Amino acid sequence: MNKNIESTLVEKRIFKPAKEFSKKARIGSMAQYQKMWKESVTKPEKFFAREAADLKWQKKWTKVLDWKCPYAKWFIGGKINVAENCLDRHLGTARHNKAAIVWQGEPVGEKRTLTYAQLHREVCRFSNALKRNGVKKGDRVLIYMPMVPEAAIAMLACARIGAMHSVVFGGFSAESIKDRVLDSGSKIILTADGGYRRGAVVPLKKNVDDAMTLLNNGGTNPVKRVIVFKRTGQDIHIEEGRDVWWHRELEYVDADCAPAQLDSETPLFILYTSGSTGKPKGILHTTGGYLLHAYMTCKYVFDLRDEDVYWCTADVGWVTGHTYMVYGPLAMGATSFMYEGAPNWPENDRFWQIIAENGVTVFYTAPTAIRAFMKWGDQWVTKHDLSSLRLLGTVGEPINPEAWMWYHRTIGGSRCPIVDTWWQTETGGHMITPLPGATPTKPGTATLPFFGVDAAIVDDAGNELGANQGGKLVIRKPWPSMLRGIWGDKARYKQTYWSEYKGMYFAGDGARRDEHGNFWIVGRIDDVLNVAGHRLGTAEVESALVSHPSVAEAAVVGKPDELKGQAVVCFVTVKTGITTSKELANDLKKHVRTVIGPVATPDEIRFTDALPKTRSGKIMRRLLKQVAAGELIKGDTTTLEDLSVLAKLATAED
Ligand code: WTA
Repeated sequence: MNKNIESTLVEKRIFKPAKEFSKKARIGSMAQYQKMWKESVTKPEKFFAREAADLKWQKKWTKVLDWKCPYAKWFIGGKINVAENCLDRHLGTARHNKAAIVWQGEPVGEKRTLTYAQLHREVCRFSNALKRNGVKKGDRVLIYMPMVPEAAIAMLACARIGAMHSVVFGGFSAESIKDRVLDSGSKIILTADGGYRRGAVVPLKKNVDDAMTLLNNGGTNPVKRVIVFKRTGQDIHIEEGRDVWWHRELEYVDADCAPAQLDSETPLFILYTSGSTGKPKGILHTTGGYLLHAYMTCKYVFDLRDEDVYWCTADVGWVTGHTYMVYGPLAMGATSFMYEGAPNWPENDRFWQIIAENGVTVFYTAPTAIRAFMKWGDQWVTKHDLSSLRLLGTVGEPINPEAWMWYHRTIGGSRCPIVDTWWQTETGGHMITPLPGATPTKPGTATLPFFGVDAAIVDDAGNELGANQGGKLVIRKPWPSMLRGIWGDKARYKQTYWSEYKGMYFAGDGARRDEHGNFWIVGRIDDVLNVAGHRLGTAEVESALVSHPSVAEAAVVGKPDELKGQAVVCFVTVKTGITTSKELANDLKKHVRTVIGPVATPDEIRFTDALPKTRSGKIMRRLLKQVAAGELIKGDTTTLEDLSVLAKLATAED
């Protein structure tokens, strides 16, 4: 059968929640969802006050919401500490000796379990270590760590003392660390000697050293202290007076550290993410509202129970790792499983072996991973017993119906509901998602808005569109975990998210709603790529390319990719006198890796004599996208393409 026809048929299938699942679920019917959703958007103050009562407040708020578009404050006057809610709140209950984090390293056989009592103790000790190193409330702490429990300990310790963390994914380069140090003004970096990934060692400390050199050469290095966790034991450079060992620091401190009394709007973290222009921006999240949303979505979307073993496969360097590996599940008192390495190490069945060995019940991953598993073949899955699973989730990019069906049948044994969760770094947590005991699902749709989320599809003028009309996705009301700003750039916050349409948050995604109200997310409509579920700005890659001495101009676009969703295609013109070659193409790929990091490695470099531009000099990206996708002309990576001819054609048609 034609692939497209098959997809369309699959998309039309409806999967209703199983009765036994609905009976136990917190939200067990559409009627209950609709009633609660309605209240959440018509009477948000009443609704969220009730939900927030589940958390431990040091002092109760006086007002739930203060909304002066585009600035929101939640739980004004309230005092609350995130770490206290994730840890102390569970002590002295049945969860005291329950596993909070179960960890496995990539090298087979490495395992650690931290109970709530142990995690609490470690967080208190490390909080004191941070204090001993001069970290105070409001300071920014840059975390560049492998996937080890200490990454979560570091984050929770910052939250405990009111410092802000800025976690940088280990796949970013020294240059990216430097940019984030400068933008956030971090005086301290927490890192490790290295981490394991696909059998190799990621040289984390070396990258930090290189970042320090770049900063020192630039004359402004605010970093006074680097605390290094010993993970691999490899040889590393220790800079006297600046670098100290994590385990040595712990020798000087005790385990008494009261959680700081913090206003609900105290900044909790900055997380850098790519936008359509310029360098990545520091998305700012605060305390009370963020925690509530993280907690509520784990409660209603993952429907987490005390007996669950929950595994989110995201790296802590992305927002999914923040909200759904650390804060949400721990606030719920759940057991959060954490794995350091790659899904195909030592073999393609590592994930399934982990699920079987640990009795994982709720599993949350990205469509890119699912497509890779499909390609590797069912034989890797079927040799393991996955009957412990009861709920599956996806995040990060649209899931194609074939991948959804495979996930449902092969991983979920046709019995586990799938929650396809749409959200963003900026939204802090799930925004559009099924509730597993209530929402009928269809492969490929993230279905309906979560509580408090007033989502709509609008046209260019901001008018709401009818069923099945494609448009832009907006959110029309504030929600508790919305970003509070862009670090250090008030104007950009307003400009990026709130200027497209008056009074509405513009997400940057294109979507449509079907006749049942389900949202089908098409993907980014701005110049942001989604490569293997990772956000990448075309402008970032372009500026990395033009920083190479041979490059005159560059334009970067996405090309549909079966596995990664999108692949990075770079059109490059070289300076006069430079000859293009395969070697130069490889050199440019390497250069982008050095400037941004392995996450941004271009898939294709295409040399061209000129870039197609409009009369006003704007690069015609739409045209380039078509060229990249092979819709207009074909060519291998090193062919010279006369795009100026296309430009002439296109301008003639204007
Ligand atoms: C995309 C990740 C379709 C979307 C949590 C969004 C999705 C961007 C989905 C945010 C989904 C995320 N279906 N697309 N379920 N989830 N996206 O900030 O384009 O890394 O704007 O946050 O990922 O990426 P970010």
